[in-house]
Amino acid sequence: MSETGLFSRVHFGGDYNPEQWDSSVWREDARVMRDASVDMATVGVFSWAAVERVEGVFDFAWLDEALALLHEASVRVDLATGTASPPNWACAAYPDILPVDASGVPYRPGSRQHFSPSSESYRRLAAAFVRKLVERYRDHPAVALWHVNNEYACHVPYDYSDAAARRFRQWLRARYGDLDVVNALWNTAFWSQRYASFDEIIPPRRTPYSHNPGLLLDFRRFTSDVTLELFIMERDIIRGAGATQPVTTNFMDAYPALDYWRWAREVDIVSNDNYSDPRDPDAARHAAFGRDLMRSLKPARPWILMEQAANTVSWRPNNARKSPGEMSAWSEQAVARGAGAILFFQWRQSVAGSEKFHSAMLPHAGPDTATFREISAYGARCAARTPVATGPAEVALLIDWENWWALNQPDHPAALDYERILRDWYEATHRAHVQLDFAHPSHDLSAYQLVIAPALYLLDERASANIARFVANGGVLATTSFTDVVDQHDRFRPGGFARGLGVVFGAAPIDFWGVADADAAPILQQGECIGRARGLREELRLDGAVVTAAFDDGAPAIVEHGFGDGSSIHVAAQLDRSAIAVVLDRALALAGVRPVLPALPEQVEAIRTASGVTLINQSAAAVEVAVADERITIEPYRWREFVERFPSADDQPRAAPLDARTTR
Ligand code: GLA
Repeated sequence: MSETGLFSRVHFGGDYNPEQWDSSVWREDARVMRDASVDMATVGVFSWAAVERVEGVFDFAWLDEALALLHEASVRVDLATGTASPPNWACAAYPDILPVDASGVPYRPGSRQHFSPSSESYRRLAAAFVRKLVERYRDHPAVALWHVNNEYACHVPYDYSDAAARRFRQWLRARYGDLDVVNALWNTAFWSQRYASFDEIIPPRRTPYSHNPGLLLDFRRFTSDVTLELFIMERDIIRGAGATQPVTTNFMDAYPALDYWRWAREVDIVSNDNYSDPRDPDAARHAAFGRDLMRSLKPARPWILMEQAANTVSWRPNNARKSPGEMSAWSEQAVARGAGAILFFQWRQSVAGSEKFHSAMLPHAGPDTATFREISAYGARCAARTPVATGPAEVALLIDWENWWALNQPDHPAALDYERILRDWYEATHRAHVQLDFAHPSHDLSAYQLVIAPALYLLDERASANIARFVANGGVLATTSFTDVVDQHDRFRPGGFARGLGVVFGAAPIDFWGVADADAAPILQQGECIGRARGLREELRLDGAVVTAAFDDGAPAIVEHGFGDGSSIHVAAQLDRSAIAVVLDRALALAGVRPVLPALPEQVEAIRTASGVTLINQSAAAVEVAVADERITIEPYRWREFVERFPSADDQPRAAPLDARTTR
């Protein structure tokens, strides 16, 4: 894989859809792109029907001309394979292309993303199209990157078609081999669900009542895998045809249907789309979550912010504008987190079609607009810099898609929203100006001082041993209720709960129940209410842990315990924002982790980079900050970079643990 000069600067640009325009507009595009310092364009995301007019009949002339123009204008092309929106001729001739919903109703053409990942016809036609495209453009001097499909699983995350049923059975055979194993693991003895043949197994279509949890979990795994097969199919066609440019596909932050840890292994470059809502007061924190997740998926390599909006989107019921400077400040937080390209949907605003009110880099009203001026100014900044490496983090927040799939199933003591819980903990660390990485429970955690693992309900033995080892070797672990409850098959382990981590917690839950927000129990620490329980409480049986906070009924709410050279804090509930802040504070003190810089206002974002610190004012008011004895004003939505080396957190003393230690 050659990187064709990629990341020689921070690239700047966006989706470019020349097929929506008369070719006379393309020259103007190339000229105005130069004014905006655009040097990268994603071309062809929805061009399948414009190129393959009917099956086997290709019109590449317009694409040849558009790519030549872009090349002339020194714009690198991220060439998309266009397979996210199959042409009408394909759907008419091969209706098995269409995905099917849980009630058995097919989705129809007329929008986009109407393909079943399991459909043989879709795979055959997509493969043939990609082959033609790559054979034509593999050596094109403008093509710097291949962009497979688009936002896989976005509108149709789950397909329940007959084709999906057939592939699901194959997937189960490959995973378990024997039907008796499937029956045993899914406990099909319950409700007379026993399968006498693999052919009886169907996707979790509409049923009178709850599905078997084992089947649901495996169907989620299958869906992520079968969708990934499509990416791999196209990527291997690209490589097989001799193309040497890297291959990507655009992710969507923490998207529930696809296990991006597994996906990240297959892409050459991670890329991401982010559309935080400017109306949300925590929008920049939401965006930061996605950016930290992306850089964590493939550490130490530049990633690409593939799409964001220059200003408004068009798909919320009410689409707020970005404040002046906000687009730049959100872009800057991506650059400080290692993004090597800042791209947008889309270059020129469409004149018709579903997204005609979506903002673009070049608005319909032309370059004499605030949006274009801000775009050009930020483009010039990107042109003048190279990608930065993000500095090391001492805190890891664990995210595991398999846990997500198991946790978000029905029939639990309370419905917990894993993404919401992760975001609450992420945002608390962001508010505390502490840098974090995302990690998987089975990753090497030895570089971290603190690991936060909220609601890690499904935990296999390898991962729980890994986490226990991290604590035994001196790490601090912070967990919340409903952690280490089931194995990888969503089954209780014999002998109770927290069978792997109970020894680390010095306590184990013996019962779980739901708490409604209206009667959420206060959590009391030395008589002070530090916040409230949320969602799901558990009753703990103590085995060595020290109780540091109790619910108002006197039951243990927060326990601390030493294990080996490290310690754990376990909370017997999910928490509101104020309780999270208190628990986090204690965990950071135990781990000896301190903020990137002390005493920063909440609205200032702090990122440690390899060369110093970037501070971004993510608010509409100027702020004053103290940096190394100097008081500095940062204007609204502006940033400051400090290249000095600040003291690292290594020399930070740790708070004393509370109890006698359990030795390994
Ligand atoms: C997604 C798609 C784009 C466009 C934008 C609009 O990210 O990939 O094609 O529809 O949303 O916000």
